[in-house]
Formats: sequence, C-alpha cells, structure tokens
Amino acid sequence: MVSPVLRLLVEAEGSYVSGQQMSRQLGMTRAAVWKKIAALRDKGFAVEAAPSRGYRLTGVPDLSPEYILLRAGDCLWKDLIFSEAVASTNESAMARCADSPQASGVVFLAEAQHRGRGRLGRSWVSPQGKSVLMSLLLRPGLAPKDASVLTLLAGVACAAAVRDISRLPAMIKWPNDILVEGRKLGGILTEVRSDPDRVLCAVVGIGINVTAEAGDFPAEIREQATSLLIETGVRWQRNELIVSILRSFEHWYGILGSEGKAPVFEAWRSLSATLGNPVRVAMPAETLVGNAEDIDENGMLRIRLDDGTSRTISAGDVTHLRPA
Ligand code: BTN
Repeated sequence: MVSPVLRLLVEAEGSYVSGQQMSRQLGMTRAAVWKKIAALRDKGFAVEAAPSRGYRLTGVPDLSPEYILLRAGDCLWKDLIFSEAVASTNESAMARCADSPQASGVVFLAEAQHRGRGRLGRSWVSPQGKSVLMSLLLRPGLAPKDASVLTLLAGVACAAAVRDISRLPAMIKWPNDILVEGRKLGGILTEVRSDPDRVLCAVVGIGINVTAEAGDFPAEIREQATSLLIETGVRWQRNELIVSILRSFEHWYGILGSEGKAPVFEAWRSLSATLGNPVRVAMPAETLVGNAEDIDENGMLRIRLDDGTSRTISAGDVTHLRPA
C-alpha cells in the first residue's frame, strides 16, 4: 500500500534523492519512477524536481494514510485501514477483531463517521474532514481487570501529542477527556472483547477536533467543545498529530509491557486536570461531590467526600467544580 518512492522521499527528510538512485534502489526504470512521482502529486504530495539533483518532498496532504504509516514506524503499527466514511471506526475495528483472530496493531482511520460512539452510551458528532477519527486494534494480553490502563495510556499519548504539535497545555480529565483551558478537545472510548481471564482484543477509539469551528459543533456542546484551530488559529496537519499520537502510544505501550502499569499511571497523574480538584461525579444511581484525590492501582478515581469518607469510582461523568 505504501509507495516505495514515497518511502525513499520520506527517509531523505527533505533532501534530494536522485532519479538514478531511486531507480537503482527500487529496481525500476527512470520512467517508472517518474510515473510514481506523478501519482504522488495526484494524491496531493508536493514533490520538487531539480535537474541534476533529483526529487525532494516539500509538502504532504493534510491526511495521508501511507505517509502516516511510514512515519509512525512498523513495529507496533502493522496496517492502516482508511475510509472516507464509516459508521464508527470503533465498530469497524471490533468487527475486524471478531473476523481476524490474529489482527493486531491495526489502525482504522476515517474522514467521517455517521454513528460515532462516545463514552457512557453517548454519540460522538464530528464534522467531515476536520477531526482525527481513529481506532487502534490491539491484543495486549492483559487480564480484563487491567484493561482500563489502555484508556489512561491513550489519554497520555493524546495529551502528549497535542502538546508536542501545538504547544497547547493539554490536560486530561478523568478518565480520558483531552482538555485545553477546561474545554474538550478530544475523547477516547476503549472497548474490549474478553474471555473471563484474558482480553482477546482491545479497541482504543480516539476523536480529536482539529479544524472544526464553533459553528460545526451541535449547539448543546458548543460552549464546552474546542478544536486546535479554535485554540491556536492554526490549521494543524492531521498527519503530524496522528503520527505523534501513534509514536507516543507505542512508547507507553512498550513501557506497559516491560514495566507494568505504574509508570503509565504516573505519566497520567502528571497530565491530570482532575486530581487535587473538587469534582461532581454523575453515575446512573447517584451523584457524588468531593475532592479528587488520586487514581488507584486499576486507574479508578478515588474521591474524598465532604463527610471524610472516600469512594472509588470505576465509571462516571466528572465535572470539575473549579474552572481549570
Ligand atoms: C468520549 O465520549 O469522550 C469518547 C469519544 C470517542 C470518539 C472516537 S472517534 C473515533 C472512535 N470511533 C468511535 O465511534 N468513537 C471513537
């Protein structure tokens, strides 16, 4: 799926690669190389051609699956499946999980979703072509009780990537809303298929608003939602954000495998907008108000109630009572 010519151009990191070198390395004629360059240009890549120097990559389209796969590395990420429109990338990834028992390290990426899923049974609405909409299919070999670490790990990867790309002070609201200045930039929905003692596959769904404008959000969330464009005035490339998320996710996933959950939770704490703050937690049967003290060894939120008792929450809708 990845153009070998694109691979050489990306590896050259903006330097020229001669047509002769490409044709030798790829075992194709100069004319065939030229055709591949033309095909890349048709896809929106800017490739400069200079007589006697060769070709160099000077621009990439905003969202290019093959560029992302090349830059994200192929240790954890084996394949990327791109669709213009799907019901939900989480739904596509869960279907693949059931159909292909070996599939792992597969990224599902879409321009639009018409049945996007959010946490707590909500829907996730995103304007076409203005967000990161992706789901990561993994087989982490975790016990079901440990699966929630993936959710927090994804929050760390997304907040770190947003900081890395845009320099915005992205924080995480428990368990994994990505916030900037108290407004929601993105969210994560992890779904798992498990045996009683083992997670068979995990799907980590990530939605981040990149170039959405206020009017793109439904009226009822307009006040709380934001995008990278709204916060910075810049149309950040989705490619670079996705590459950064995938790299950061792979980094923390490796640490989870080698050192366990503790370092991931420590990273999460350092990015948390929730800990140390007064919160209201709405759950189906009750609503609690207290101080968010910490997360426990399973990533659950521990809050101290006004009567001095403490409660551990596994799922709920958190509101920060002191603005960030
Ligand atoms: C939340 O409620 O905050 C979680 C939102 C998760 C949305 C993403 S968009 C890509 C993936 N596919 C889905 O249907 N949902 C997740």
